[in-house]
Amino acid sequence: MRDPNREPPVIRIGLLGARGRMGSQVSRLLVEEFPSRATLAAAIDQGQPPSTLLECDAVIDFSSPTAMAALAREALERSGPLPVFAVGSTGWRIDEKRAIEELAARTPVLLSSNFSVGVLALLELLKEAGPLLSRLGYKPVIVERHHAHKKDAPSGTALALQRVISPQGPGNVPIHSVRAGEVIGDHEAAFYGTADVLSFSHHAQDRSIFARGALQASLWLHANRATLAERRKLIGMSDYFHHLKESTHV
Ligand SMILES: NC(=O)c1ccc[n+]([C@@H]2O[C@H](COP(=O)([O-])OP(=O)(O)OC[C@H]3O[C@@H](n4cnc5c(N)ncnc54)[C@H](OP(=O)(O)O)[C@@H]3O)[C@@H](O)[C@H]2O)c1
Repeated sequence: MRDPNREPPVIRIGLLGARGRMGSQVSRLLVEEFPSRATLAAAIDQGQPPSTLLECDAVIDFSSPTAMAALAREALERSGPLPVFAVGSTGWRIDEKRAIEELAARTPVLLSSNFSVGVLALLELLKEAGPLLSRLGYKPVIVERHHAHKKDAPSGTALALQRVISPQGPGNVPIHSVRAGEVIGDHEAAFYGTADVLSFSHHAQDRSIFARGALQASLWLHANRATLAERRKLIGMSDYFHHLKESTHV
């Protein structure tokens, strides 16, 4: 028999960038796929004061680094408990990144340039394959394609691929960015040998993969907030993937 006292709580989600391409997907999935786990408690866009987000249990950010850094600075001025943060914006300047690093010293903050489980798996595969292929003499190159409205280039995911293929520095892994049409997000890591090419790629068919990933990550952050808060530093994509490998549900 179901024991209502053991049901996970319904968490209150605050959404920064609510009307955007990604924010609207999060709102839709909350209703369609997460009605018993989470509810939309605050939805903020440009020109609206973001302070209501700080009353929520978890904040999902799909706005811009500038907007998220401003929210982080506002949060840091508060005493008392803060929400957990699943941050999806890409294209961070150093000062903006510092603001969310400071926030991560107070509350769990997951920064992920790609919430698709497929991309997280690709990054893990390339941790092994990238350095091996480089040792065998293959020359890596990354190609990423996104819609013409995307503000940053190269994409955060391309930079993450570059870091796993070449942990010692980006020097020998060029990134080619294409901005055209309405492409949701394609990434390819190709390794050129003298007479052959190995290619690893990910093609996003639908933005819901990122929205679903951000919602699942928020539930995980909130459920494990006490333990995660002890880290006092940004939680990365590979930390989250490690959790996914160990558990098929959050
Ligand atoms: N991590 C991932 O998995 C993932 C996946 C896809 C995209 N992204 C990233 O997520 C971000 C958003 O992408 P998108 O395609 O959804 O962009 P978008 O359609 O342009 O949406 C951005 C939203 O943020 C709002 N916004 C901008 N500045 C703001 C501010 N200062 N305060 C409050 N709201 C503000 C915009 O409001 P207005 O319309 O009023 O300006 C808009 O609603 C980008 O950085 C993108 O690269 C990440």
